[in-house]
Amino acid sequence: MGAVTSGLPAMAERLIRDRHATRAFLPDPVPDETLRAIFDIAGAAPSNANAQPWHVEVVSGVARDNLAEALISADRAGRRTVDFPYSEDIYTPVHQRRRAAFGAAIYAALGIDRDAYDLRAAYDAKSLRFYDAPHVALLYAPESGDPRLTADVGMYAQTLLLAMAAHGVASCPQALLSFYADTVRETLGVTDGKLLFGISFGYADPAAAINAVTVGREPLGETTRFHR
Ligand SMILES: Cc1cc2nc3c(=O)[nH]c(=O)nc-3n(C[C@H](O)[C@H](O)[C@H](O)COP(=O)(O)O)c2cc1C
Repeated sequence: MGAVTSGLPAMAERLIRDRHATRAFLPDPVPDETLRAIFDIAGAAPSNANAQPWHVEVVSGVARDNLAEALISADRAGRRTVDFPYSEDIYTPVHQRRRAAFGAAIYAALGIDRDAYDLRAAYDAKSLRFYDAPHVALLYAPESGDPRLTADVGMYAQTLLLAMAAHGVASCPQALLSFYADTVRETLGVTDGKLLFGISFGYADPAAAINAVTVGREPLGETTRFHR
């Protein structure tokens, strides 16, 4: 099957296709009014029985700096905790192949050899500072960790990313942040829910080579079957 034209109005098509993960940000904060508009419209996401089972902590300014420091300290101390268990086994061989291609593109753009574990660790530390983004949103699923409700949080997350993109705000979802779940909870005083992932966001640094990395997608037929 050749290239697929969505038929969507050009703006919607651009919004969906041009959103991508940004890994270097300018320090300029997003105005409060824009922040409120983005998070307000993100709540229009669909969910099972309209339960809207997401909870979001939006962190900026001094609170953002404190969280970054707490994450760096936790990392140095080897204090990693997760609310959702993680194992490499979740990926099938085909997923692993896609992951490897993604990793190769990122590390090539950074000029880091895949075996240079110290350089990769240094890059992780940068990631824990939210790639210098002035804001980070932490996305929580309900305490039960029920997969259906957690999927609703995923629906919310993509709606949020598109709302950001529509406002010219760049973003990077970061599963990495979920590996410090207790640190995030304690630092922000979160009393309920499970940390699924974080989203660093702000304005993209146009001069950063890492932001020029684009990763492709599998052809339609690899993921989708049409039945008639
Ligand atoms: C739930 C989730 C977690 C992610 N975690 C990370 C992360 O920890 N670090 C990172 O650099 N990118 C992370 N990403 C970004 C993905 O690598 C990126 O979305 C994927 O490679 C596709 O690229 P694109 O978003 O630029 O289209 C995450 C994306 C999602 C949806």
